[in-house]
Amino acid sequence: MSNKLSTKPYKGVRDFYPQDWMFQKWMFWKMKSVCEKFGYENYNASPLEASELYEAKSGQEIVQNETYNLTDRGDRRVTIRPEMTPTVARMVADQMRELPKPIRWYSIPNLFRYERPQRGRLREHYQLNVDIFGSDSIQADIEVIQIGAEIMKSFGAQDADYKISVNNRKIINALFAKYCDSDEDTYQIAKLIDKKKKLSNEDFYSSIENYLGDKTASFIEAIENTTLENAKSFADQDDIAKTQELLSSLASQGITNVVFDLTLMRGFDYYTDIVFEFFDTHPDNNRSLFGGGRYNDLLDIFDMEKIPAVGFGMGDVTARDFLETHNLMPELGSHTRVYVGVLDNDSLPTAQELASLLRDAQINTEVDFSFRKYDKMISAADKKMIPWFLAVGEDESALKKFSIKNTVTGEVQKDLSVEEIIHKIQHG
Ligand code: HAM
Repeated sequence: MSNKLSTKPYKGVRDFYPQDWMFQKWMFWKMKSVCEKFGYENYNASPLEASELYEAKSGQEIVQNETYNLTDRGDRRVTIRPEMTPTVARMVADQMRELPKPIRWYSIPNLFRYERPQRGRLREHYQLNVDIFGSDSIQADIEVIQIGAEIMKSFGAQDADYKISVNNRKIINALFAKYCDSDEDTYQIAKLIDKKKKLSNEDFYSSIENYLGDKTASFIEAIENTTLENAKSFADQDDIAKTQELLSSLASQGITNVVFDLTLMRGFDYYTDIVFEFFDTHPDNNRSLFGGGRYNDLLDIFDMEKIPAVGFGMGDVTARDFLETHNLMPELGSHTRVYVGVLDNDSLPTAQELASLLRDAQINTEVDFSFRKYDKMISAADKKMIPWFLAVGEDESALKKFSIKNTVTGEVQKDLSVEEIIHKIQHG
């Protein structure tokens, strides 16, 4: 048997080679720019949490089936975070009195879920989390959705490329109250609706029938055909008015791809009111992109006074699938601007001096001191997508004049002083 170690990463996680990581950073920078434009502050935390944190409210499924758990040497049960919401709620709860409200925070942590790897789902992903704590106003729900839409726009998406589904848990709960006899039935039916797209119509019907018997047909008709208008017959008028305000306010801000969908559940148990999800409308990637909602009771788990909260999580995997599907992937070059190829040992001092002057001028410069052939060095610069190439040999060392080649256009300029080179690189 061979003892050779695999060079591949653990199942369902990714290595990020420099080109991949450059793309990640580009995506994170887009997310960060929009969040900061809206006045959100960046926070961070450890990926390790006490397991109890997730057992209270995340939703049984994720804790039982999807978390990575371990017991440390001191017999403490530890979970690698599968989501950021319990962590950020814990952090807010811990400093509740000191933190100025409303709290507007964002973070881009990596999260770990033991899932069957498939398109859009991995075992480790990065997730932008955007949350507001301390505002009960529907304006806060509107703002976080607006941030989601603004990020999509900054990726180059048009409104028709995706749609935003919105529901209000209170409205669907009012319907459940009409049909379900127990909290357990309600819970199970909510989970079934959440999985509806993965089930055939027959399976969905028969699973609901297990709980609702002969009320099944009327229940399914209600969830499929209920508009915000006719929800007035069973839901609280305030909840309907709030949801209506959210839809019209988004429309008045030019976000017109929003639909009310009573079947939108979102998996976690902590959502209390508005929930929303962004979906790709492209037939090749017809899937959820990201989502979130309001969770006003999550701080209960710390036995603290309530603090209203709303936010969303946007994953990097689904975002990348979206960008690829819609041909919106950016072309990213190297951060290094100049590749200095040193032709021989005697030319090294001149090359290093030149590199220092370039770096002093804030020009990122790589020096190749392998003394390889000119062609080999220029091909390396090209492969690394470094836009400028300079060779330093005997003549350059003697005259302190250099030729510079643009690796993209092939243009060469000869006999330039260091000052002229700096000018050329900075101004093209
Ligand atoms: P979530 O729906 O579980 O919500 O995840 C949010 C997004 O993270 C998903 O829509 C998807 O983009 C991405 N995502 C989730 N799991 C995976 C996975 N296994 N592989 C790749 N991407 C994934 C939450 O996590 C909530 N805590 C979000 C939130 C923040 N709600 C309020 N504030």
